[in-house]
Amino acid sequence: MRKNGTRMSGGRIMARLIVLLGSLAYVMVFAVINGSLGFLCSMGVTLLGATGVAKALGEQIALSYGWIIGLAIGFGVLRGVLRFVEQYCNHYIAFRLLAVLRSKIFSALRRLCPAKLESKQKGSIIAMLTSDIETLEVFYAHTVSPICIAITVSAAVLAFVGIVASPWLALIALVGFIAVGVVAPLISSSMMKNAGVRYRARFSAFNAYFLDSVKGIKDIVLNNAGGQRKAEVDARSDELLKDTKELKNRIAGATAVTEFTVSLMTLVATAVAVALVAKGELSIGKAIIGVVAIFGSFGPVIAISALPGNLTQTFASGDRVLKLLKEKPAVESVENGVDFTFEDVRVKDLCFGYESDKKVLEDICLSAKKGEIVGIVGESGCGKSTLLKLLMRFWSKDGGEILYCGNEIENVNTDSLLCNVTMVSQVTYLFDETIEDNLRIAKADATAKELEDACKQASIHDFICSLPEGYKTAAGALGDNLSAGEKQRIGLARAFLRGSGLILLDEPTSNVDSINEGIILRSLAEQKKDKAIILVSHRESTMAIADRVYRIENGRISEGKA
Ligand SMILES: Nc1ncnc2c1ncn2[C@@H]1O[C@H](COP(=O)(O)OP(=O)(O)OP(=O)(O)O)[C@@H](O)[C@H]1O
Ligand SMILES: [Mg+2]
Repeated sequence: MRKNGTRMSGGRIMARLIVLLGSLAYVMVFAVINGSLGFLCSMGVTLLGATGVAKALGEQIALSYGWIIGLAIGFGVLRGVLRFVEQYCNHYIAFRLLAVLRSKIFSALRRLCPAKLESKQKGSIIAMLTSDIETLEVFYAHTVSPICIAITVSAAVLAFVGIVASPWLALIALVGFIAVGVVAPLISSSMMKNAGVRYRARFSAFNAYFLDSVKGIKDIVLNNAGGQRKAEVDARSDELLKDTKELKNRIAGATAVTEFTVSLMTLVATAVAVALVAKGELSIGKAIIGVVAIFGSFGPVIAISALPGNLTQTFASGDRVLKLLKEKPAVESVENGVDFTFEDVRVKDLCFGYESDKKVLEDICLSAKKGEIVGIVGESGCGKSTLLKLLMRFWSKDGGEILYCGNEIENVNTDSLLCNVTMVSQVTYLFDETIEDNLRIAKADATAKELEDACKQASIHDFICSLPEGYKTAAGALGDNLSAGEKQRIGLARAFLRGSGLILLDEPTSNVDSINEGIILRSLAEQKKDKAIILVSHRESTMAIADRVYRIENGRISEGKA
């Protein structure tokens, strides 16, 4: 997804992420107001202390000591309440948005599926759904409002110090704020940008590799390749550790520079205040209030200076998420096209290649209508599954026509196509749910009788009944214990449940013994009364029920018995 390891600029990513806030922007404004007031309250506590000292030193202060103490306590309590509200709002926004983002990513994956997802590593998608999204929490809960709070608080402090103490002290505070809150973060973020992007890319690659290894653990063990894999996992995690160390070193360096700048500026402010007092331009009391105000005012800008460490990663994550949301699917779904009820499909001069320079299918012509079983045979890799995927419009054809009841496939509504055509692919995926739920994804409101009939037709009913809890048995609990043939038959039962006019079967009986195959073929023969079935198979016994058989060879098709 990422090309050449580059990413959008931080500003653009931030702007786009903020746009995603939508109506939650109001909550964020509320959070900023609370956060700013909260910080001013906490400064108020120290300032009231300084005011007390100034009063003791003879400064004309209208407040009595009782009021000063009372107000300090009041500000302290208020600070807690305001901080709570700010944090509550920020996290409310963040977690609401994370939920929205997860659902957006899922929709994007659905849009891109299946064509674009074939080329994406599952681990990278999982990294996106988990750690990338979590990283964005930092952005929404701990980035936007601290920046706004820093600006508001700094402006208030500058005005206060300028008016109450001295414009010179305000000027020093301004230089300090810009150095700590603007210059330092800009420098450190440019220093950390590449390290952050590299870390996130490595992290996601590591996840992908690790997940791949877990998924393939059986083959790793069978091939006695465990040591090799483990060494690779170790090497990759060492690399990751190196990246983390580098990133942390830079963060620590940046923090040290920030702390030094803050100390320097407070020292300068104190020196200037002393000089002003010595020259008689400022009273001791006002000097104390001014210097204490500056001392206590760096908190929000320090918070900003600490952002780049997280922000570089947030941007890298935001970049990946935003790019996925923007990615164009291989095939756009059709919504304002035509609906149809399946009667027949005709394919004329169909051409297709996954890559433009390598044709998989050329000038393919075939047809199927209700009441027919059409067989397709050919060597492994000749394009049989590809042809079925094109009939489902998983990919767009390069040339020729696919006509459903005379309607060009590109003009047919995607919903209508999916209602009328069902495909059982070579591998059936079972969800970690009960067998019944696994069947119901084909027809959510199916009655118990419909479920049972479909399973009988797929010759899996007796097997399901033999399970401890029958249809309510958790498929996840069975894990890999279900045989390939059992899974395949559940896939077939799903197809029978859907009741579409055209069923595309990719090797439906490749893992089934001859007795079960016989039952399935008989069901297919019965079903063909009001359906068309296109059947891909290597088996001659399966092809025996086909009315017509097409053979694909070198990308071209010819008709004849298998
Ligand atoms: N997503 C893809 N991207 C690029 N090439 C692909 C993709 N899917 C399949 N291919 C290639 O297209 C060719 C046809 O694949 P296809 O799966 O259609 O073969 P098949 O006839 O169904 O084979 P089998 O009998 O083994 O299932 C193969 O060379 C395969 O490697
Ligand atoms: Mg195939």
